[in-house]
Amino acid sequence: MRILVTGKNGQLGRSIHKLVNTDTKIDNNQSSNDFIFVGRGELDLSSENSISHYFDNNNKFDIIINCAAYTQVDKAEEEVGLANQVNHLAVKQLAGIASKQQAKLIHISTDYVFDGESDKPYLETDTANPINVYGKTKLSGEQALQAVMPMNAIIIRTSWVYSEYGNNFVSTMLRLGKEREELNVVSDQIGSPTYAADLVEMILTIIDHESFRRMGQKTQIYHYSNAGKCSWYEFAKEIFSLKKIECRISPITTDQYKTLARRPKCSLLDNKKIEKKFSIKLKHWKDSISACLNRV
Ligand SMILES: NC(=O)c1ccc[n+]([C@@H]2O[C@H](COP(=O)([O-])OP(=O)(O)OC[C@H]3O[C@@H](n4cnc5c(N)ncnc54)[C@H](OP(=O)(O)O)[C@@H]3O)[C@@H](O)[C@H]2O)c1
Repeated sequence: MRILVTGKNGQLGRSIHKLVNTDTKIDNNQSSNDFIFVGRGELDLSSENSISHYFDNNNKFDIIINCAAYTQVDKAEEEVGLANQVNHLAVKQLAGIASKQQAKLIHISTDYVFDGESDKPYLETDTANPINVYGKTKLSGEQALQAVMPMNAIIIRTSWVYSEYGNNFVSTMLRLGKEREELNVVSDQIGSPTYAADLVEMILTIIDHESFRRMGQKTQIYHYSNAGKCSWYEFAKEIFSLKKIECRISPITTDQYKTLARRPKCSLLDNKKIEKKFSIKLKHWKDSISACLNRV
């Protein structure tokens, strides 16, 4: 097995690296030697030539897991071309290469493909309607992938990803909580935080599943987040409570917190399809944030 993981320095890439190198839960069918991790140094998704060059000069892969993405939601409003190249055109090119190599492709997408106006969790079949550039480019990537690779790929849409690595909501709250005496956090955006380590376990379960191993399976979209829901404010309160941080925290509305990109009000994903297909039980976000903070 040769499994390529892109975005090796990102939250998800690093979480995969950690799990496959240290965790005994990794199935006998794989070994850590099967995984090849690449960052933008080896495979720059902003350049069509870099992508072609990388695959022309390496042996074929059995599975490609695309964890790389342009993820700076506000900056994407100004860097539309670059965000579109990385999140859309590069994904199309990767799908073409995977198809030619008869490799399976697992691609990660986002709740931000939805407009957030729903009052219930989004199903995979609900109409996407992104309200910011990042969401638009991620949706274009999904659509291009499905057109090029109608078989043998999986798109996992996830939400509010955090981990012990890099910059994310949790690391920001831990920093601000120590620096400040009070903090305002948005309370009218609702979602399910997703611990990257849990998402990695999900990806490894998929890779190991007999239906994924078979070629000729129709490309599928799955939603995956931790269970339960909260606002950013409630999430921050839980982080402070678990870490015994005494910073006072107050709820504010989205209107009171100006950002370049608009954010969906409801980011909830309905996870029943993935739970049923792979017979998994989602961990609750409160259990997962506790597990993550124990490792920070
Ligand atoms: N974070 C979230 O809240 C969230 C929510 C929903 C969905 N997702 C999706 O989940 C996936 C993983 O996200 P994450 O949180 O792990 O993101 P992340 O920590 O920002 O990592 C993204 C990685 O992509 C790499 N990258 C960016 N531009 C690149 C380029 N031109 N060529 C090659 N690599 C490039 C970055 O490289 P450098 O390290 O060199 O910058 C980084 O390592 C992404 O598809 C994202 O859209 C994330």
